[in-house]
Amino acid sequence: MTPPPTARRVRLHEWAAVRDLRLEAVADPAAGIAFLTTSAEELARDESFWRQRTAGAALGEDAAQFVADTGARWVGTATVLMRETGARDHLDRVVLAPRADVVGVYVSPSHRGTGVLGALLDAAAAWAAARGADALTLDVHADNARAQGAYRKAGFAPTGVAFTSSIGPEIEMSRPIPPAGAPDGR
Ligand SMILES: CC(C)(COP(=O)(O)OP(=O)(O)OC[C@H]1O[C@@H](n2cnc3c(N)ncnc32)[C@H](O)[C@@H]1OP(=O)(O)O)[C@@H](O)C(=O)NCCC(=O)NCCS
Repeated sequence: MTPPPTARRVRLHEWAAVRDLRLEAVADPAAGIAFLTTSAEELARDESFWRQRTAGAALGEDAAQFVADTGARWVGTATVLMRETGARDHLDRVVLAPRADVVGVYVSPSHRGTGVLGALLDAAAAWAAARGADALTLDVHADNARAQGAYRKAGFAPTGVAFTSSIGPEIEMSRPIPPAGAPDGR
């Protein structure tokens, strides 16, 4: 039996795999209500872009990309972006309080419904907590019912914030990160 994938941070040399998983994600039938970029935009990026993106995701203090690795291939990903007060977020909004935003969430069809997303989000939460975050925040399209269902299952709840981005109506959801050592701490 194939072992369950391990959620881990990407490594510096893995830029081609980072690129390939992003290309898989933006080709998904749900991509239009999931991602802010298109296949054409991602395909137009050159190697130096992916090397730079991966360096930040692997080593950065303000960004980390996690992947679900079966040992043979990657079957999911989630990225955390730490936001300082006053910074601009990925939608160019001014950040009003420090945040840990989860973006670029994707699970390959072969591994949906298997707990991969939960493992990725737990890895993201642990990394963000080590940087002082007390919650994870994310945006999800109002029509992306599966993603909303998956996030609720993973402990996220709507914050009440709703807005329109380049892909249409979105809602914000968040999940508290219990202090280390709390009874329900992860
Ligand atoms: C979103 C995504 C990461 C979720 O991962 P997943 O492994 O498919 O999620 P799960 O199957 O564990 O959970 C989905 C939940 O929503 C429920 N669900 C599925 N379709 C649904 C629908 N149309 N309406 C309501 N709930 C739905 C499922 O029943 C499941 O809940 P359950 O396990 O209690 O039955 C994955 O589907 C994906 O990569 N989708 C394409 C890209 C995407 O949308 N990314 C998110 C961008 S914000």
